[in-house]
Amino acid sequence: MIKRLKTAMVGVGQWGSNVLRNLAAAERCEVKYLCDSDVQALSRQAGRYPNVKTVPEFGDLLADEDLHAIVIATEAPTHYNLAAQALAAGKHVFIEKPMTLKARDAAALASQAESSHLKLMAGHLLVFHPAFEAVNRMITAGEIGNVYYIYTHRLNLGIVRREENAWWSLAPHDVAVICRIFEADPIAVSAVGQCYLQKDIEDVVFATLKFGDGRMGHIHVSWLDPHKIRKMTIVGSRKMITWDDMSPGEKLRVYDKGVVAQNVTSYADAITLRIGDIVIPKTASYEPLQREIQHFVDCCLDDLPVLTDGAEGLRVVRVLEAGQKSLENQGLPVDPRQLD
Ligand SMILES: NC(=O)c1ccc[n+]([C@@H]2O[C@H](COP(=O)([O-])OP(=O)(O)OC[C@H]3O[C@@H](n4cnc5c(N)ncnc54)[C@H](O)[C@@H]3O)[C@@H](O)[C@H]2O)c1
Repeated sequence: MIKRLKTAMVGVGQWGSNVLRNLAAAERCEVKYLCDSDVQALSRQAGRYPNVKTVPEFGDLLADEDLHAIVIATEAPTHYNLAAQALAAGKHVFIEKPMTLKARDAAALASQAESSHLKLMAGHLLVFHPAFEAVNRMITAGEIGNVYYIYTHRLNLGIVRREENAWWSLAPHDVAVICRIFEADPIAVSAVGQCYLQKDIEDVVFATLKFGDGRMGHIHVSWLDPHKIRKMTIVGSRKMITWDDMSPGEKLRVYDKGVVAQNVTSYADAITLRIGDIVIPKTASYEPLQREIQHFVDCCLDDLPVLTDGAEGLRVVRVLEAGQKSLENQGLPVDPRQLD
């Protein structure tokens, strides 16, 4: 039984440095290696973690039998290859979102991890957000009623990416949360978008996810927008919730609003609006990334089921790939379940 998880942090760029900070602070965890092919990025972090070995070559990590887990925060196109090598070398793996760029690669990683009895975790950060945990509790307790539909806005001016479009860069979190709330894969994804700043890289995308029995999600992502908005609206049969991640103290609002269909004959009487109180529930104030990384460490050490495991990573990548295919075909609906 391992008492302390020995880890390597691969990719210490913009986001990886945040992951590293939380990995270094996680309980029952040791960062044994920092790895980045960019020696400047590596030496920037090496100064902060003087006792950690630095390695520019990913392959050099794999032979160390005393290394238990690899945390990957490199650019998305590298994820599949690095993760497949890490799993083949017997290491547990955490991969930042999106887990891969192809559903078939995500499926291969999920089955590789399962057959090797290794943990595979996708970095779906919002699932570990205290506001999401509160939303989930309300939905599970039946307070919201049936969730009819959900829409999200994830907008800002920048960061403009070169390797991926706004859909792949910004939508994974919303896709993960919507699928988790509906506990299902969508049956069709249609997406339209436009490239303004760079050739063939969409800056703005509007996507609709249709689920069985009429439930629906809509995602608007853009890095070319005057507003900085990260907001989700969840409309249920009993109540409605808004989750505004940009609001420092009032992230959630629960609206006791709904429409009651009466069993009467006249059209005018048939629908009654119910407009009750708006409640601002207090949410816990921990850092989602800290919770996410500690979850990975605990799952590896205590052999617990991973909340955002390979199957969840695959579900999200399927939707992303379906959205990409739809974008390339002027919004044609694509069934994500057919892709791997
Ligand atoms: N969870 C979140 O909220 C969140 C936020 C931002 C980014 N991300 C994700 O994190 C990942 C990294 O994003 P970023 O903005 O930090 O990118 P970045 O370009 O700033 O950093 C990536 C680093 O990986 C290194 N790298 C690339 N290939 C490598 C290899 N084979 N071996 C070793 N090092 C290698 C690069 O040199 C670079 O330093 C992406 O998948 C991104 O989508 C997640």
